[in-house]
Amino acid sequence: MSDKKSNQMWGGRFDAKPSDIMTQINASIDIDKRLYKQDIAGSKAHAAMLVTQDIIPATDGEKIQNGLDQILVEIKNNGFEFSTALEDIHMNIESRLKDIIGDAAGKLHTARSRNDQVATDFKLWVREACDALTSKIESVQETIEKLVTAHKTTIMPGFTHLQVAQPVTLAMHLDSYWHMLNRDKTRTEHCRWRLNKSPLGAAALSGTGFPIDKKQTADALGFDRPMTNTMDAVSSRDFATEFLFVIAQCGLNLSRLAEEIILWSTPQFGFITLSDEWSTGSSIMPQKKNPDAAELVRAKTGRLNGNLIQLMTVLKALPLTYNKDLQEDKAAVFESFDTIMLCLEATKGMIDTMTVHKDKMLEAAQSGYSTATEIADWLVRELGLPFREAHHITGAIVKIAEEKSCRLDELTLSDMQSVDKRITDNIFNVLSVENALKLRKAI
Ligand code: ARG
Repeated sequence: MSDKKSNQMWGGRFDAKPSDIMTQINASIDIDKRLYKQDIAGSKAHAAMLVTQDIIPATDGEKIQNGLDQILVEIKNNGFEFSTALEDIHMNIESRLKDIIGDAAGKLHTARSRNDQVATDFKLWVREACDALTSKIESVQETIEKLVTAHKTTIMPGFTHLQVAQPVTLAMHLDSYWHMLNRDKTRTEHCRWRLNKSPLGAAALSGTGFPIDKKQTADALGFDRPMTNTMDAVSSRDFATEFLFVIAQCGLNLSRLAEEIILWSTPQFGFITLSDEWSTGSSIMPQKKNPDAAELVRAKTGRLNGNLIQLMTVLKALPLTYNKDLQEDKAAVFESFDTIMLCLEATKGMIDTMTVHKDKMLEAAQSGYSTATEIADWLVRELGLPFREAHHITGAIVKIAEEKSCRLDELTLSDMQSVDKRITDNIFNVLSVENALKLRKAI
């Protein structure tokens, strides 16, 4: 171990140091330094347990605790020098611990391997990320709720095939995003629940002969319980793919809203105007106000989907247990998390500050024969016709409106009766978009 030519953490049986490219491909410190807090927390819990179980002396345990506390401060204050030669966050921290407390540092890794260590750190990180994601989603939901309350009577066209279908309210439209986000939120909570079992104590893959107490470390780190299969503990990353899926799905939902923001803010729709804060200009066309943030939320889906596929591809056909392939699990998760947090924040900002043009929405709702279904329903209700026949008759009425270039409520009774003479004046009650909406009473 004194041979400085080889790696100081695992170089005992090596005569030569790794080639530069080997060091480069092997190192993950640039990415996994983000796990420093979790790594220190995991090590502190492990060291405390080693003392309780009489595996290491209490005096060494205390040195380890103090040294780790000092390292935490150093890293937080940017006073820590990360080394690529030391590969990853685990060995960077342990090596620094040795500088600070000397040989006692070497006892920290008793009954532990980097394999259970990294799985533990990563789970702790994803767990925290789940909590942050949950509250970020909630804050977007709150903004949606505010808009839903304000727009209970703001009438707009509901679309199918992006063609005007039936009148709805802006509240109904936005509330559907609230529900989509609510499922994203509960998916995040379920992901957190499933992952919250501790891998610590699995050691390299088969556990350890030392009399460790896995329950103590699991409790100390806020896990519900230890994982029961040590091989599963070090080799499974489905918690990470699940988290990536949850994020990708949330990103898909946001991309749909983003697309609508983009469409609605065009002069052709004119339903909304984004605030200046959430728009950009064009360097050549002075008249332009572009919805760049919405376009980027729409586009970020590419990364989010890509990251999910990236990690699933790494894991495919990977034999048990730990393989270095697993080191490629973090970049995707970190990037997806940062991206979704940004997208949620941008979505919230855009919708919170947009101006809604109620007149334009109403006008659009009144066009496109959006109450045609009401005519068909009226024929069913009042004349007892089968819906299929009513549908047919209504088609003929729409055709007349098309020929006369007028709205359905602008037709005359004799227009209607030219299609079916049983139609009465009473039909006009259902033709306005307001009345069509009032008829919808089921929850
Ligand atoms: N940096 C490694 C990772 O992220 C830590 C585990 C290394 N384990 C090993 N047996 N080489 O996966």
